[in-house]
Amino acid sequence: MASPVQRTLILFKPDAVQRRLCGRLLTRFEEKGLRIVGMKLMQITQDLAARHYEAHKERPFYPGLVKFMTSAPVMALVLEGPHAVDVCRKLMGATFGFKAEPGTIRGDFGVSNQYNLIHGSDSPEAAEREVKLFFPEAKELLEYQTADAGLHACD
Ligand code: RTP
Ligand code: MG
Repeated sequence: MASPVQRTLILFKPDAVQRRLCGRLLTRFEEKGLRIVGMKLMQITQDLAARHYEAHKERPFYPGLVKFMTSAPVMALVLEGPHAVDVCRKLMGATFGFKAEPGTIRGDFGVSNQYNLIHGSDSPEAAEREVKLFFPEAKELLEYQTADAGLHACD
């Protein structure tokens, strides 16, 4: 059975950019076999943060989350590959750094609840919505094949 090729939205959060970790985090996704189809450094506005995290707007941590996400630039990425949504969530690890397993990004680089370095879409439906939010223009996402594309398929 063919593996579903998916796209997912990844954000290297302000703490990752401030700590100069973008290169090291990106390496993990590239080494796993995911393909970059979009990437930009950007400042998230209040409006974009609110739309992105609208599911959490009644939660007690929401005001702090929006403040943090708009405090400094983020690196926004669209990554593509077989089961990309799930694969990226696994590479990220559990939400809180102190709970995330060693070997995952959150497990290896922090112990914080909020300053957890990275966001990744949590379902294909969320990915579709979030990719459109952060990359509204189709020309920002590039279609291309890598020479070793077949080697990374999981079927
Ligand atoms: P994300 O959306 O950022 O990828 O994180 P996630 O799916 O692993 O976790 P989610 O439940 O969606 O929470 C979104 C972000 O809110 C902050 N948070 N703080 N203090 C708290 O109890 C708390 N709970 C959540 C985290 O920064 C989390 O990434
Ligand atoms: Mg989430």
